[in-house]
Amino acid sequence: MSIKLSPSILASDYGALRESVRLVEEAGADYLHIDVMDGSFVPNITIGPPVISCLRKTSKLVFDCHLMINDPDRHIDAFAKAGADIITVHAEAAPHLQRTLSYIRSLGLKAGVALNPATDISCLNYVLDDADMVLIMTVNPGFGGQKFIPAMTKKVRDARALVGDEIDIQVDGGITLGNLKEITDAGANVIVAGSAVFRAENPAEAVRSFKGMM
Ligand code: DX5
Ligand code: ZN
Repeated sequence: MSIKLSPSILASDYGALRESVRLVEEAGADYLHIDVMDGSFVPNITIGPPVISCLRKTSKLVFDCHLMINDPDRHIDAFAKAGADIITVHAEAAPHLQRTLSYIRSLGLKAGVALNPATDISCLNYVLDDADMVLIMTVNPGFGGQKFIPAMTKKVRDARALVGDEIDIQVDGGITLGNLKEITDAGANVIVAGSAVFRAENPAEAVRSFKGMM
């Protein structure tokens, strides 16, 4: 399975978003991880469809939209229209998860399901036919710059055993060049990195270092 890098713009300067996106795109990032927070499912509030559609005008990256919002069904159409390529919803926030995932796919997009650290992978059992990607949160969602939760390595390994090789496994939170190998060895193949890219002294160099290890 090919391993992809998805830099998270949460850690970038929101006043210079277009520049940050161009920088990681030119440095060889595969996806752009866009964290959407509603101040309800998670304590923080970030950005929504209007900002995404502005970025879409100047970027060809795969827009990997991580919706940390309650009842995401209300907003799927808007994110699709704004230019999302992948829409990931939280199992904890989407009561009709199977319907949500199949709706995302019906719009021609890839559908992802995210699990908070404490959520068991058994909730994936009956939606595997409807998902392109599983996002294992390796921190509790809401903020960048948190520490990787060590127990998540086993969770990634268990998730890989459950989903097989056809479904991507994304990890998000506290990923650095130092723990990248541990997590890819466990079976993750889509790597989100926020602080490790945008808070690095040289973000372009950080992207190249991640890619060099993949
Ligand atoms: C956290 C977000 C992450 C965040 C990761 O709720 O979902 O995508 O940007 O940031 P780092 O890599 O700094 O932990
Ligand atoms: Zn995220």
